[in-house]
Amino acid sequence: MPVIGVINQKGGVGKTTTAINLSAALAQVRNVLLVDLDPQANATSGLGLLPSSSVYDVLSGRSSARKAVLRARQKNLSVLPASAELAGAAIELDASAEDVQLLAKALIGVRPSFEFIVIDAPPSFGALTLNALAAADHLILPVQCEYYALEGIAGMMDTIDRVRAALNPDLQVLGLLLTMADNRTNLSQQVEANVRRHFGELVFDVVVPRSVRLAEAPSHGLPIFEYAPGSAGAVAYEAMAQEVLQRVSEA
Ligand SMILES: Nc1ncnc2c1ncn2[C@@H]1O[C@H](COP(=O)(O)OP(=O)(O)OP(=O)(O)O)[C@@H](O)[C@H]1O
Ligand SMILES: [Mg+2]
Repeated sequence: MPVIGVINQKGGVGKTTTAINLSAALAQVRNVLLVDLDPQANATSGLGLLPSSSVYDVLSGRSSARKAVLRARQKNLSVLPASAELAGAAIELDASAEDVQLLAKALIGVRPSFEFIVIDAPPSFGALTLNALAAADHLILPVQCEYYALEGIAGMMDTIDRVRAALNPDLQVLGLLLTMADNRTNLSQQVEANVRRHFGELVFDVVVPRSVRLAEAPSHGLPIFEYAPGSAGAVAYEAMAQEVLQRVSEA
């Protein structure tokens, strides 16, 4: 039962868009839990959910994951939601071994109920992201097709190596996902070529195009497959989910 963290300390690269749509695509064939670990709660609101309790209550020991999990409107999809309160956890938790394992421990109780757990991590690097890294088996790193993309990934890879050594020896990078590509521009093509040259097979074959539909979908509380089925973004995330299933089965 794989736990997949969607992480990148850089903001606005497509983590939440990927977490929502990967979860929704996987939910067509598997029972999926999406964990929203970002105080911005974008994954929670992007699925149209208004939670009464959140992963903050779970991390602070006031509730169990089982109680805080909500059913999404989609079949086979549940969400451990976030709330603005979660910003408090980012401050209250520290980098102690005990605090960074809180999410991993909390998920033990719900792991048997799901075939896939996807964690949407916050931007920045702090206690919440460390909790995601400690709980995950696999990581997906969305990379925005823009000029500074490569520098950011090198830093992330260093961080992941250190986490693997100190905290979670089994942690694997499942893949780098190029997002917001605009194939009409040379820049997007150059960034894609550079990332593929540096990271080779680690980069998912599918590239997520820049698409207004993908940006609009969360304001309707819907995954792309319901908001704009058949759109370029829906096709891309469907293909990405297939690659994820393939890679997980080979890992
Ligand atoms: N492929 C895409 N095409 C067009 N817009 C996109 C695409 N992917 C994401 N966006 C938009 O770009 C913005 C940032 O995306 P998203 O919220 O997924 O990134 P993030 O990495 O989760 O951000 P944060 O670091 O703040 O959590 C959002 O407004 C989102 O709707
Ligand atoms: Mg996000």
